[in-house]
Amino acid sequence: MGTRRRIVAGNWKMNLDRAEAVALAEGVASGANSCANCSLILCPPSIYLAAVANALKLSKGNSPSGVGLGGQNLHNQPKGAFTGEIAPAMLIDIGCSSCIVGHSERRTLFGETDAIVNEKAKAALAAGLTPIICVGETLEEREQDRTAAVVTEQIMGSLEGFTPADLTASIIAYEPVWAIGTGKVATPEQAQEVHALIRQQLATLTDEETANQVVIQYGGSVKPDNAGILASQQDIDGALVGGASLKADDFLAIAKHFAEAS
Ligand code: 13P
Repeated sequence: MGTRRRIVAGNWKMNLDRAEAVALAEGVASGANSCANCSLILCPPSIYLAAVANALKLSKGNSPSGVGLGGQNLHNQPKGAFTGEIAPAMLIDIGCSSCIVGHSERRTLFGETDAIVNEKAKAALAAGLTPIICVGETLEEREQDRTAAVVTEQIMGSLEGFTPADLTASIIAYEPVWAIGTGKVATPEQAQEVHALIRQQLATLTDEETANQVVIQYGGSVKPDNAGILASQQDIDGALVGGASLKADDFLAIAKHFAEAS
């Protein structure tokens, strides 16, 4: 655990209207000082990034409330004929400091392979964004006892060619697919086991000192009432929150657990 930062991010997915997004951002910003030891990141739908940046009073990467802004997805090319896509530099321009990459919904619904995730993560890093790189097994894979193999393959493929500096500038999110939006949270032991495995893989990829600095978030039905026990695990450094991030009080309560565990 040591000196690793605590970071809790809210993935709003394709939810809320503009007024609700602004109100939620303001609610989180006004309570952020209650969990000062934990960094907060909000990832709204891309069409509301500007409105949320405005609500957070972001200017040139500075956030008076300390709450950061993140994208949910990006394209790997800097610009060009890619209708509907968003370039990494555009996210920076609008005030983002990070971006979710390779969420399981992108992998399963939009065909993102480890190779694509790798390209996107590298593009994010090149632009100066922190990629929040997601991995996680399906229920079928867990039941077949393939969790370790699947997560190892995703980590190695998604992070191929990463230098130690790339790795410490990234966040890894372990999100077991069967726990996402289902109310079935992984037990603290199940989550810790995979987090430890991921850290081991990161050490293989670079070295132990580097691996020990990398923030690994857990995601999948994180709620205020299970965040405390997750936060107490040695290799769980934060959370990537879906449903519960749509309520400012719940999101802040989750972050508080991680702030207290730091
Ligand atoms: P839930 O917290 O709604 O399970 O979603 C998790 C998730 O996918 C965050 O990226």
